[in-house]
Amino acid sequence: MTRLIEVEEGSVGAEMPVRTFRLKHRLKDHPLFKLDRLARLAASLPADQVEFNGPVQPNQDPSLTPSNGLSAEETVRRIEDCKSWMVIKNVESDPEYKALLDACLDQVAEQTRGTMGGAKKRQAFIFVTSPNNVTPLHMDPEYNFLLQVRGTKRMSLFDHKDRNIVSEEKLELYPGKHRNLPYREEFEEVGVQQHLAPGDSIFVPLFDPHWVQNGPEVSVSFSITWHTDHSLKMVKLSYVNAALRKFGFPQASAGTHPALDAVKVAAYDIARPIYDAVKKLVGDRRKAVALVFGRKAAAIS
Ligand SMILES: [Fe+2]
Repeated sequence: MTRLIEVEEGSVGAEMPVRTFRLKHRLKDHPLFKLDRLARLAASLPADQVEFNGPVQPNQDPSLTPSNGLSAEETVRRIEDCKSWMVIKNVESDPEYKALLDACLDQVAEQTRGTMGGAKKRQAFIFVTSPNNVTPLHMDPEYNFLLQVRGTKRMSLFDHKDRNIVSEEKLELYPGKHRNLPYREEFEEVGVQQHLAPGDSIFVPLFDPHWVQNGPEVSVSFSITWHTDHSLKMVKLSYVNAALRKFGFPQASAGTHPALDAVKVAAYDIARPIYDAVKKLVGDRRKAVALVFGRKAAAIS
């Protein structure tokens, strides 16, 4: 069987890799990534699953992110010249993309003896970007393979444990947090620059900050993400640590005090369903934060 995604022998051992590495894939001519199919996908999904904007910088101020004045479908159809960035989120809600996501991650799991590609919380995203566009510095709270389908891009990646790159506070997660992180050019001296062309793929480690410079053509990338028990625990701790910081109790990094971490994870497991239920009832994130965590937390969330 010809594999959709190929992990080079020896690149993954028994432990989850903590640094980026390269893979190959065979999706560059796949019909699910043609612009017409992507335009129809973008038009078919709810508005909150399609995010797009005009040109930005690596250190973009989120409050000044420019709109491109187009609909989601128009953005894809005019991506060659509309100077835009788009992410189509959770494309696994479409059965064809879900099947492709599962096939890719199953093949990774098989080739890594289960170390990577597991079955927990699999999600997929498609990035459609205009020539020379930029994705500002950010980090993602999941494991990710980025598969470059069309065009070229360069991703600069940084170690999330390097406090010269990102502070403990900036890494923490809370409801409604904007993903952009502060960026300075000198970061590049300690970063890893991955250059991607169609057929190339890279592993993006959990929480590692990264930013992307597109090449001089339209770019289409498929991002396939998943979780392990460890990553789910780290994400929960990040939320709890952010909440405690907002109440004036900044915390040590996850893993420093395992017994306390276990208490925090248990607290998260109790609080999260309450927060989600309140948010559903009041239909507004800020009101939900205020009701569950208090008005002070809502004001700064
Ligand atoms: Fe990302």
